[in-house]
Amino acid sequence: MAARSKSSKAWLNEHVNDHYVHQAQKDGYRARAAYKLLEINEKDRLIQPGTVLADLGSAPGSWSQVAAELAGEKGAVFALDILPMEPIAGVSFIQGDFREDEVLAQFESLLGDRLLDLVICDMAPNMSGHAVTDQAKSLYLCKLALDFARNHLKTNGHFLVKVFQGAGYTEFLAEMRAAFSSVQTRKPGASRNRSSEIYLLGRNKR
Ligand SMILES: C[S@@+](CC[C@H](N)C(=O)[O-])C[C@H]1O[C@@H](n2cnc3c(N)ncnc32)[C@H](O)[C@@H]1O
Repeated sequence: MAARSKSSKAWLNEHVNDHYVHQAQKDGYRARAAYKLLEINEKDRLIQPGTVLADLGSAPGSWSQVAAELAGEKGAVFALDILPMEPIAGVSFIQGDFREDEVLAQFESLLGDRLLDLVICDMAPNMSGHAVTDQAKSLYLCKLALDFARNHLKTNGHFLVKVFQGAGYTEFLAEMRAAFSSVQTRKPGASRNRSSEIYLLGRNKR
């Protein structure tokens, strides 16, 4: 019985998630992930007309699409991914591996001396299926993103980052708390329940 109800739940979960896939096609978003950012933004008002932000791990581009729409012409979106990304109006994109110093330097020169209002990071490594390795790789990307946020956010800027709960999560949370006045967790409806992914929102960089 227990197994059956578990699989029914899984079925329902996937079915509900299909809804987001269809909706994304209808709304012209490149990925269902768009609705995660839209939902978080609805609550937390991170992106407004004029917001200048960086989108780390941006491909295929649904977060950048949402960000560019909300930030408008007075805002700016700087995006980076290891994979190529089709152009989006209002988004400056660099393709490269965020772990490489050269890529970071290139991205930093794109920003010039502008400080950012917001950094959003949805980066996730290619999953090998080996949970410990995947978790470690993901956390490493989160730490690099946090370093970047610390260096490029304005005082009182915000940082939204996807993390996978597991080894090292508590330490990462402590680092976030040291860098931001408040740190909250967000699990948007479009995020699959079975996934251990969660978003951390650091508000007001110290
Ligand atoms: C979940 S997807 C992001 C989806 C995106 N937010 C959207 O809405 O379209 C995660 C992205 O992280 C990128 N990524 C993984 N490792 C990376 C790295 N080392 N440097 C840059 N991007 C990386 C992947 O290529 C992938 O496109």
